[in-house]
Amino acid sequence: MAAANGGASRRSRPNVLVTGTPGTGKTTTCSLLSEAAGLRHVNIGDLVREKSLHDGWDDDLECHVINEDLVCDELEDMMEEGGILVDYHGCDFFPERWFDLVVVLQTDNSILHDRLTSRGYTGSKLSNNIECEIFQVLLEEARESYKEDIVMPLRSDNVEDISRNVGTLTDWGCSLQVHVILWLDLLCAICKCLYVQIELLPQKTQIFPSPPIKDTV
Ligand SMILES: Nc1ncnc2c1ncn2[C@@H]1O[C@H](COP(=O)(O)OP(=O)(O)OP(=O)(O)O)[C@@H](O)[C@H]1O
Ligand SMILES: [Mg+2]
Repeated sequence: MAAANGGASRRSRPNVLVTGTPGTGKTTTCSLLSEAAGLRHVNIGDLVREKSLHDGWDDDLECHVINEDLVCDELEDMMEEGGILVDYHGCDFFPERWFDLVVVLQTDNSILHDRLTSRGYTGSKLSNNIECEIFQVLLEEARESYKEDIVMPLRSDNVEDISRNVGTLTDWGCSLQVHVILWLDLLCAICKCLYVQIELLPQKTQIFPSPPIKDTV
């Protein structure tokens, strides 16, 4: 997992992006995963509304026009610290270096159709989202934006899927943290070793005494 190792070397806790077509269960999964894995859940839609990180309202799409630069600026510091679970139905504008894992939730089309209609989606809003799922737009976007080995598609059709996904992702987070801790331990051991060597340095230099200073007179 190249990007995971690269990311973990700069932060002590992993960052995870959970993406997928609207209604696939990102927020439901993130809420449970946040508790199980002790990650901080950042719902980008809520953040955009709360902090007005948008360029107004789109009447056709019935949503705010997200200002991607403002969102990235807002997130930068916390992403650097790590331990963040980002929940958003897009993934191509975040810096690649932010994430150790990109989860793409996927749902059977007829199940998703029922979920979205029960939310009141109709017309083009409903059909656009169903088409987005049929053509696996988010999976494609994730694979184009991140190294393929950190992109993890997960089924989210029913409650059992949610529970299995939360388990899988919690296990993944734990194993990555153990990996990071082992590396930190190794680094500490090397530093201690170097410290001891430096402490012994004056004695060692005795073995190689400096050449006698020549009389200049
Ligand atoms: N795997 C699942 N099994 C059963 N119900 C689910 C599952 N995933 C989500 N749901 C239900 O579908 C609805 C939408 O879920 P949720 O809000 O988590 O989706 P979302 O991906 O966050 O959507 P959005 O992108 O619009 O925020 C909720 O009522 C939720 O309870
Ligand atoms: Mg949501």
